[in-house]
Amino acid sequence: MRFTLDRREAAQGTVDAIAVGLPERAEKEDAFPRALAREDQAFGKLLSAAWERREIRGKRKEATTFHRPDGKGRLLVVGLGPRTQVDVETVRNAAAESVRALKGRGARTLGFKLSSFTNERIPAETAVRALVDGAGLGGYEFLRYKTSHEGKVEEVTVFLGDEAAREEAPLRKALEQEETLIESVLWTRDIANVPADTATPEWLAEQARGLSKESGVKVTVFDEKKLAEMNCGGILGVGSGSSHPPRLIILEYAGGARSGKTVAVVGKGITFDSGGISLKPAEGMSNMKFDKSGACAVLGVVRAAAALKVPPRVIGVMACAENLPGPSSYRPGDVLRTHTGKTIEVLNTDAEGRVVLSDALGYVIEKYHPDQVIDLATLTGACVIALGPDIAGLMSNDEALAQSLLDASHQTGEAVWRLPVTDTHREMVKSEVGDVRNSTEIRSGGALTAAAFLENFVGSTSWAHLDIAGPGYNEPPTARFVPSYFNRGATAFGVRLVTRYLMTPPR
Ligand code: BES
Ligand code: ZN
Ligand code: ZN
Repeated sequence: MRFTLDRREAAQGTVDAIAVGLPERAEKEDAFPRALAREDQAFGKLLSAAWERREIRGKRKEATTFHRPDGKGRLLVVGLGPRTQVDVETVRNAAAESVRALKGRGARTLGFKLSSFTNERIPAETAVRALVDGAGLGGYEFLRYKTSHEGKVEEVTVFLGDEAAREEAPLRKALEQEETLIESVLWTRDIANVPADTATPEWLAEQARGLSKESGVKVTVFDEKKLAEMNCGGILGVGSGSSHPPRLIILEYAGGARSGKTVAVVGKGITFDSGGISLKPAEGMSNMKFDKSGACAVLGVVRAAAALKVPPRVIGVMACAENLPGPSSYRPGDVLRTHTGKTIEVLNTDAEGRVVLSDALGYVIEKYHPDQVIDLATLTGACVIALGPDIAGLMSNDEALAQSLLDASHQTGEAVWRLPVTDTHREMVKSEVGDVRNSTEIRSGGALTAAAFLENFVGSTSWAHLDIAGPGYNEPPTARFVPSYFNRGATAFGVRLVTRYLMTPPR
């Protein structure tokens, strides 16, 4: 999808469809909204007639189509819901719904009337970004395995109109920046959606090498031999049951500022999580092809960071392995020696994410001394039970970092909720046999004990952990309830959030 800006009023453009936002009309609201007068004129008074009939009500997810009497173009009135509740997230959803309403309906170009998506709380620049987010993300489809597909919107124009035309330069910059960011998010979804028969740890390494060629990001791949030399017994243990050996992938973006900070972004990259010897039940197991979502998000963040030339140096780390049962698998009872020297008593081979992350965190901190570490992982089912399908858990040992990530979350709409780690959880992950155990005696607080486990491998480094098990992917039963711009399958959750954080230099 391509995005452009046009100074004119939407009705003057020559797009296949124009989308205008309409807040929900009050019970006794009879006067036709003045904001739609121009469109009403261009559409032969069809809008005001529909208003009279109470056909358009502005309810959320309501999209009504009008055709120009001369047959050249159509107008989509998209409901925004109660006026006092219209916010940035409403605009993202409305943009996604516009694009979806036009799918397979012969519209290749779509224009948004910017002024219908702004209000006292949503400045023009914020609305422009939200329209790009919603249309770009909402229009996404994973087509790798489809031999045919329906036509969809390919070009989106944001019409400024008289009011906003004065701000053209900053709005153009916002549009271009957001387009670049969204492009990386969709690229990430295309990788994260690939199933495990193809998306092996080595295949993910190839994607990283491809990124290096196109962007100048430095990529280093450690294979199983090198990992053995590096004493990375955690990732090797998890990957030992698969014929596709593990890879630790390092990406380095040098940073746009000369004396910038170094931020490490680490991701769980389990290409398939069967549970291993502690086998998962069959139901829903196919979703475990998305257990690499954290590592894919890291790839997307580094790509976007390089494209947008963010100030800090960024070190991406993807901890990739496949968790399968087999004659050479690691097993419950095994004790693994990790890169930092700390040992892990394995009590459940399905708690493998924290095990691969132990090596990744230990390595990146020892080698690069980052100022901050942020990890992303589809780590625990417990986090999904706690926060539902669309909110990520945030655990951090640094108040300022946590607050900055919450700020970024408010900007991008990727929902995050802070969760605690206390001495109770720290006690629960201590092992009798080794240093830490990967699974606890009692199951309650599973997202928190997982974070307490990871804490052992970050020492005093400023660190934030995002458990994205809920919002990392989106399956049919939950699709109705999560934002309209969450597509089916991998969402690439975290790419916009962490990139937005990197764009505003860490405090
Ligand atoms: N990949 C799963 C977590 C997960 C569950 C992600 C549901 C997305 C949706 C993880 O490796 C796992 O299996 N965790 C176990 C940990 C337990 C054995 C301590 C869990 O959450 O049950
Ligand atoms: Zn698991
Ligand atoms: Zn897993």
